[in-house]
Amino acid sequence: MPNAAALAGPQVIQGGMGVAVSGWPLARAVASSGQLGVVSGTALEAVCARRLQQGDPGGHVRRALASFPAPAVAERVLATYYVEGGIPAGSMFRGVPMWTLRPSRDLQELAVVANFVEVFLAKDGHGGPVGINFLRKIELPTPFACYGAMLAGVDYVLMGAGNPAEMPGLLRALAEHRPVAFAVKVQGATSADGPSVVRCSPRALLGTGLAPLRCPRFVAIVASVDLAAALAGDPELRPDGYVVEGPSAGGHNAPPRGPRRTNPDGEPVYDDRDAVDLAAIAALGLPFWLAGSYGNPEGLQRALAAGATGVQVGTAFAFSAESGLANELKAQVLAELAAGSLRVTSDWRVSPTGFPFKVAHLDGTLSDEAVHDRRPKVCDLGFLRSPYRTPTGAVDYRCPAEPTRVYITRKGGREQNAAGRRCLCNALLAAAALPQQRRNGYREPALVTAGDDFSAVRHLAGEHPDSGYTAREVVDHILSPG
Ligand SMILES: Cc1cc2nc3c(=O)[nH]c(=O)nc-3n(C[C@H](O)[C@H](O)[C@H](O)COP(=O)(O)O)c2cc1C
Repeated sequence: MPNAAALAGPQVIQGGMGVAVSGWPLARAVASSGQLGVVSGTALEAVCARRLQQGDPGGHVRRALASFPAPAVAERVLATYYVEGGIPAGSMFRGVPMWTLRPSRDLQELAVVANFVEVFLAKDGHGGPVGINFLRKIELPTPFACYGAMLAGVDYVLMGAGNPAEMPGLLRALAEHRPVAFAVKVQGATSADGPSVVRCSPRALLGTGLAPLRCPRFVAIVASVDLAAALAGDPELRPDGYVVEGPSAGGHNAPPRGPRRTNPDGEPVYDDRDAVDLAAIAALGLPFWLAGSYGNPEGLQRALAAGATGVQVGTAFAFSAESGLANELKAQVLAELAAGSLRVTSDWRVSPTGFPFKVAHLDGTLSDEAVHDRRPKVCDLGFLRSPYRTPTGAVDYRCPAEPTRVYITRKGGREQNAAGRRCLCNALLAAAALPQQRRNGYREPALVTAGDDFSAVRHLAGEHPDSGYTAREVVDHILSPG
C-alpha cells in the first residue's frame, strides 16, 4: 500500500540543472513518462538569445513564441536576437543586458519570454508535469522569470541555494498579474537604507485583460530541518513540499554547518551536524523528496522507507541523450568513467556564490588550472553579480570572478574572496554547447559539474555502450525493483 506521502506527487523529480543541462528536451522526455521534468531557469535570457542567434535550429523557439500571449513583446525579442541561418561560425554572440535593481524594459521582456519558451516547449505534446528550478542566490531575474514560466502553465517552481521564504507570496501575486516588489540583498546595506527590491509589474509588461494564471506548487530545496521547519511554521511562507539535498549532489551544495572545515585538498568536510533528521522532516507533514546519491533503484527504496514521496535526481540525467550538456563533454565523462579515471571533487573556491560546487575534472575545461590561467577575465553576462552599497551610498554590482583589478580596486571586493573563482556564467553556457567566441578567436572553456554517485550512469552506459541512454531509461531504471 502506498503511504499518503507517496500520493502527493511524482516519485522521480529530474532535478533542475543549470545552465541548460536540464533544458526543455530533457524535462519534456521525463515529463512525458509521467514523472516531474524540471527545466533550469538559470540564465535563460542568454540561452534563448543565443539559440535565436544560432538561427533557432528546428524552429522550436519561434514555435513557442507564436503562442506567447503578447505578440508584440515576442516580436521585439525576435527582432533583436533572431538571425536567419545563424551567425557565421566563429563570430561573437550579441550580449544580453545585465541585471540591475532597475532592469531595462528589454531585459524584463526577454526574461519573461525566455522562461515562457522553455516551459512551453517542455510541456508541448503531453500531459505530464513540468517544473522550473531557480537559485535564490540569483535574485534579480526571479519575478520576471517566474511570471514567464507561469504564463506557459508551469506546474512546479523549485528553488535552492538560499532561503525562499518570499516565493509562495510572489507566485500568488503573479498568478493574479499583481505588481510585486521582490526583496533583494544588497551587500553593505544597513537598516537605514531601507529594503531593496526589484519591481515587476505584469500588466505594465503585457497589458490588461489577462485571465488569472494557475499558481504552481512551490518546492523548497533545503539542506536542514531548521529552514524547512521555519518555512512550514508560517502559512504565508509554507511551501508545498521539500527537496532535502545532501552534499553528494551535483551542482552547488550547502556548506557544512558550524565553522569552516576543509580536508587537505580544500574540500568541505561534512559530519553528523550536517545529517538531516528525516523523521523531523516527515513530521512537518508535507511531501518531500531526497536528493544526492538517490538516483538508483535502492535510493528510491531508501527514500520511500524514510517517508519521502520520492527522489530528486540530477547526475544520472545529466549524461542522458536528451540533456543539454555538449555531446563531446558527455562522451569525455563516459570515457573517463569507463576507464576508472573520472574524478569529481567539491570545490569551495570555484563558484562566485561562495557555496561549494562539484567539479568534474576533465582536460580542456576550467577544472584544469592551466586552462583557467589562460582565460582572459571578463564579466559580460553578470548573472552572479551581487548588488552592493558603494561608499557614496549608490548601488553597484560585482562578482568575485570578474577582472581582479575591477573587483578589488574599483569595487572594494576582498582579495581572498576573488582567489580561485571561475566565471561560471561563461563556463556553464559553454558546457551547454553555447560558448562565447571572442573577437580574437578565443573560445570560452566549459566547466562540468556532477554528483558523487555514478552508479546509475555506469549501469545504463554499460547497457547502451554505443547509442548512449535516454532519460526514459533513467526513469525506468530508478523505478525498477532493483
Ligand atoms: C549538471 C548538474 C547541474 C545542476 N544544477 C543545479 C541547479 O542549477 N539548481 C539546483 O537547484 N540544483 C542543481 N543541481 C542539483 C540537481 O538538481 C539534483 O538535486 C542533484 O543532482 C541530485 O543529486 P545527484 O546528482 O546525486 O542525482 C545540478 C546537478 C547536476 C548534476
